Amino acid sequence: MVFPLFLAFCCFLGSSLAQTTDTLSANQTLQDGQSLVSSGQVFEFGFFTVDNSSARYLGIWYKNIPLQVTWVANRNNPIANFSAELALSSQGSVSLQNGSIKYWSVTPVGAVSEPFLRLLDNGNLVLSDASVSGDSGDYLWQSFDNITDTMLPEMKLGWNLRTGLKRTMTSWASAVDPSTGQYTFSLEPPDAPQLILWKGSQKQNRWGPWNGERFSGSNELQANSVFRPIFNSSPEEVYYSFEVVDNSTLARFVVNPEGAVQYFAWLDNQWTPLVTLQRDYCDTYGICGPYGTCYDSSDGNCRCLKGFRKNDTNPLDWTGGCSRTWGLSCGNGEGFVKYKGLKLPDNSRLSGNTSSSLEECETECLKNCSCMAFTRVDVHGNGGDCLLWFVDLVDMKNYPSGGDVLYIRMARAEIDAIARAKRRRRIITAVSISLSTVCGMLILAFICWYALRRKKERTRDEYVVYRDSGDGGLEDNLELPLLDIAVVADATRNFSFQNKVGQGGFGEVYKGVLPTGQEVAVKKLSLNSGQGLKEFKNEVILIAKLQHRNLVKLLGCCIHGDERMLIYEYLPNKSLDHHLFVPDRRKLVTWKTRFSIIMGIARGLLYLHEDSRLRIIHRDLKPSNILLDSEMNPKISDFGIAKIFTVENAGEMTNRIVGTYGYMSPEYALKGHFSVKSDVFSFGVLLLEIVSGHKNWGFYHPDHDLNLVGHAWKLWTEGNALGLVDALIEQEFPMKEVMRCIQVGLLCVQQRPEDRPTMSSVVLMLVSETSDVPQPKEPGFGAESFVVSTDSSSSVKIFHFSNDMTMTAPESR
Ligand SMILES: *[C@@H]1O[C@H](CO)[C@@H](O)[C@H](O)[C@H]1NC(C)=O
Ligand SMILES: *[C@@H]1O[C@H](CO)[C@@H](O)[C@H](O)[C@H]1NC(C)=O
Ligand SMILES: *[C@@H]1O[C@H](CO)[C@@H](O)[C@H](O)[C@H]1NC(C)=O
Ligand SMILES: *[C@@H]1O[C@H](CO)[C@@H](O)[C@H](O)[C@H]1NC(C)=O
Ligand SMILES: *[C@@H]1O[C@H](CO)[C@@H](O)[C@H](O)[C@H]1NC(C)=O
Ligand SMILES: *[C@@H]1O[C@H](CO)[C@@H](O)[C@H](O)[C@H]1NC(C)=O
Ligand SMILES: *[C@@H]1O[C@H](CO)[C@@H](O)[C@H](O)[C@H]1NC(C)=O
Ligand SMILES: *[C@@H]1O[C@H](CO)[C@@H](O)[C@H](O)[C@H]1NC(C)=O
Ligand SMILES: *[C@@H]1O[C@H](CO)[C@@H](O)[C@H](O)[C@H]1NC(C)=O
Repeated sequence: MVFPLFLAFCCFLGSSLAQTTDTLSANQTLQDGQSLVSSGQVFEFGFFTVDNSSARYLGIWYKNIPLQVTWVANRNNPIANFSAELALSSQGSVSLQNGSIKYWSVTPVGAVSEPFLRLLDNGNLVLSDASVSGDSGDYLWQSFDNITDTMLPEMKLGWNLRTGLKRTMTSWASAVDPSTGQYTFSLEPPDAPQLILWKGSQKQNRWGPWNGERFSGSNELQANSVFRPIFNSSPEEVYYSFEVVDNSTLARFVVNPEGAVQYFAWLDNQWTPLVTLQRDYCDTYGICGPYGTCYDSSDGNCRCLKGFRKNDTNPLDWTGGCSRTWGLSCGNGEGFVKYKGLKLPDNSRLSGNTSSSLEECETECLKNCSCMAFTRVDVHGNGGDCLLWFVDLVDMKNYPSGGDVLYIRMARAEIDAIARAKRRRRIITAVSISLSTVCGMLILAFICWYALRRKKERTRDEYVVYRDSGDGGLEDNLELPLLDIAVVADATRNFSFQNKVGQGGFGEVYKGVLPTGQEVAVKKLSLNSGQGLKEFKNEVILIAKLQHRNLVKLLGCCIHGDERMLIYEYLPNKSLDHHLFVPDRRKLVTWKTRFSIIMGIARGLLYLHEDSRLRIIHRDLKPSNILLDSEMNPKISDFGIAKIFTVENAGEMTNRIVGTYGYMSPEYALKGHFSVKSDVFSFGVLLLEIVSGHKNWGFYHPDHDLNLVGHAWKLWTEGNALGLVDALIEQEFPMKEVMRCIQVGLLCVQQRPEDRPTMSSVVLMLVSETSDVPQPKEPGFGAESFVVSTDSSSSVKIFHFSNDMTMTAPESR
């Protein structure tokens, strides 16, 4: 979450710096109230105050954006008054002081003859010697070498191996206190680099090691439409950095006071979160103990690797992890078992510094009895390096979509058992093929039953996922008002039917007026949410903390016996479908309003997907869930409700697939798979509906029987995309903007989830006229027929396991 920073500047002007400049020369001083401004007016360097405290800091911020500091010189030495000044001596030393009190200083090594201090347009404050390097080149000192909590393009997180300099990011103590906070983000060690978030001296999260393409276990740091990550490794330097695609976009990478590691870009006059590295609970360091792997789910789902069994009998305690089914006995025919699709464990060591083959890596590991595992990845871009592990393997994550391969040392007995099982499987396959039809049917029935069971387990895993691991108990800061049932009943005239304003998938909605006069909407959840009281409260508190102007605000809750109620702000303009699908009202919705509704929904959804505290997949995005305030600003409602209901327990209400046909992505409707990309699909449908004024489901056209999405695609391929636009939009509309919208809509409804853009790209494509919008591919459900199967056949696919075990030559027997 971004907290607003309130900066106050003092406004007396001293005489030492006459006018706005980017440079401080020898013998000059910068007084409180004066500043340096980079030549392109991008950054400003001077004194500031955070919030309403009186402490003064010297730092750098964006010149033309309110309230965003990127660097602080004296973060742990605030100045108590306005009397300090920054001076540059003729010997090149820089000091921030008031008389004998020194707040911060830099002293260059060696002799300097013509020093100057300059603020560059990339946000770097540099100390140079004009007689040596002219205007550019080697710096005596630069602020880019001393990162605070913010990394800008061209900054480098990591190592200068020549000088031994290690650059790390350290959070602020709080949103209003720049002093050193608890969280440090670093790249280490240099020979097998990983990204590590430390809380004090404890690892919180870890991604890596770098495997030539990405940090193992992190899909988040990929090139997108705003920035490109950079990893560089050479004998001189090992670092992580990034560049922006369009160099006019301002982007920053920050570790915030709560430990979220996030990318932001300045889009459409606000800081938009693009990527948060912490994706889910499984990112919590070592959550499953040694030899355990974590499977995505809301509550962290640990399992032992094959060949290992759980160490502790308490099913909830994974600190002891797993131990081997067969103990090791070095030199007695041990070998290695291959595991696929894993985030590589922590504490790897690089073996040698030349390229090696897989066999060489294996030999290297086998010859040392304490080597537990190895793999070969291209850490340093020289073809392939051996990584070896000499300790218990911790912090692994199941990571089917492009995880890495790991070879783990196993006892002879285990290796033999695997070989036997393989032979057996081959025989069973042969036998079962020749079995009679009846038998075959039985097996099929079993498979279906099993698949259904698996599916049930699986859907449970797919809820909201990441939760801040901050140690403050939620109970301690229960900020959400718990309303008394009498108050709620009074407000809704005892839930009278005149007050009923809606019936959603999760229960009935009543309009009410609180004693304070505030209008509210009361959502009465259907019985049997199946959740304990404490869990319910915690959930509600978490969701109430999600605040964004495009989300409906949750004001409180009410618990009465088995009944649970959520109390929301009341929005007078009802939901989007009231405006969109009624011709008389639709006429009144101008293109400008429609576009702002589209943008608002996109931003709200982006916030749900990328917020650092609680990631939410909405799962039921549709016009009736978009409420409008008096100014027609859209607000997404019903987010997080899916989280309050757990699928298993919610009774028949949610035993079916939750969602609404017409807005569901193919992979969700057919297989029950969902992800943020299923929301992107629903958003695409919604966007096309807003543009056209027609419902996707139940769309009718005299010439064909395609649904709206199919119709839009047909028009697009015929080069007549503007034919989609609602004929009832009377005023002229900006053609380019409309075209871009339709194109983005079609991108969102593409068949394959991985082809669909993320919400951050969607926002960028919608706001930026210069950004590239790719050509869409054919949408899912493009054709007319879309049969929703109840899905026993298609879920047989679940049958593959990702910890696929195959053997590699166990040599020394
Ligand atoms: C700065 O002051 C010192 C001492 O007064 C003087 O020797 C030097 O020439 C001055 N340098 C500049 C660039 O004015
Ligand atoms: C100053 O900050 C404190 C704590 O952040 C707050 O309670 C107080 O209301 C603020 N005062 C003013 C004048 O804004
Ligand atoms: C400013 O604060 C410093 C350090 O607390 C103190 O020494 C100095 O006298 C103060 N200056 C004024 C003008 O109050
Ligand atoms: C430092 O503080 C004193 C007051 O103690 C004040 O007179 C002086 O102007 C201040 N500033 C500098 C730059 O020394
Ligand atoms: C950065 O600055 C802090 C304090 O300002 C200092 O302790 C630290 O050593 C500096 N680091 C580097 C790499 O210069
Ligand atoms: C941005 O990119 C353009 C084209 O590559 C280049 O001409 C310009 O100098 C760049 N601006 C900055 C600030 O790097
Ligand atoms: C397994 O659990 C026992 C007792 O809980 C503990 O003493 C032992 O160290 C654990 N083993 C591992 C490998 O963590
Ligand atoms: C590693 O590299 C250094 C020089 O970079 C070289 O002298 C050394 O022989 C290499 N070691 C191995 C084991 O290849
Ligand atoms: C095995 O590797 C460990 C860790 O590198 C090392 O301390 C130990 O000496 C090695 N043992 C042998 C026999 O090479």
